[in-house]
Amino acid sequence: MKLLFIGDVVGSMGREMVHDYLPKLKKMYRPQVTILNGENAAAGRGITEKIYKGFLQDGVDIVTMGNHTWDNRDIFEFIDEAKKMIRPANYPEGTPGKGISYIKVNQLELAVINLHGRVFMTDVDDPFRKADELIDEALKRTPLIFVDFHAETTSEKQSMGWYLDGRVSAVVGTHTHVQTNDARILPNGTAYLTDAGMTGPYDEALGMDRDAVLRRFLTQMPTRFEVPKEGRKILSGCFIEIDDVTGEAKKIENIVINDDHPFNGGFE
Ligand SMILES: [Fe+2]
Ligand SMILES: [Fe+2]
Repeated sequence: MKLLFIGDVVGSMGREMVHDYLPKLKKMYRPQVTILNGENAAAGRGITEKIYKGFLQDGVDIVTMGNHTWDNRDIFEFIDEAKKMIRPANYPEGTPGKGISYIKVNQLELAVINLHGRVFMTDVDDPFRKADELIDEALKRTPLIFVDFHAETTSEKQSMGWYLDGRVSAVVGTHTHVQTNDARILPNGTAYLTDAGMTGPYDEALGMDRDAVLRRFLTQMPTRFEVPKEGRKILSGCFIEIDDVTGEAKKIENIVINDDHPFNGGFE
């Protein structure tokens, strides 16, 4: 099975990148499943039903979320009906939505799990124990399991990679908005990438207006961060290939498209 993952989509520029490049990426990689992190899709804060449906129309199969899940109150209106959206699974009991989803591809099934870190972030339930629980559940149906671990620190993400090595097909990190250059297959067969990076404004600070972010660093004054609507753009993510029978990863490759790394359709 071939998977495409697109990292944190930020605002309208991020959505434009998905709309413009997903068809080209699909042509190049021929993925059966496309997963996208949409926690910043609505002007940097959360997601709306319209945006969620727009992603599905653009060819996304599953939307994952993160610490910005609840930022746009629109979500409370549709999350329970949104079959193709998951939020971090280790949110406390009683939280709306779900943290695992299954997608059928011909005879195969892929489980997609979203988890949330605890270091320098909101204190949620233990993501490691939650992973154990969900993997036990998923393995009853399929050995093909993808995990989006939405976390701040490289150490927590690497530790999750090692913890799940050999038990899931892939652990891909999100949240930092900066892609790491450490895509690898761990010794027991799990594809791993610390962070997939972001999709949206390229010349800003993690997708937010860079002047406002800089002003906060220079003055320590409260500043409102906005997502710019114009300028150069980036798309970040990764491509993963999994053995259909064993669920072991065979390949993981970083994807980045911007003016410094223009899309070449797979040709050098
Ligand atoms: Fe994000
Ligand atoms: Fe985040």
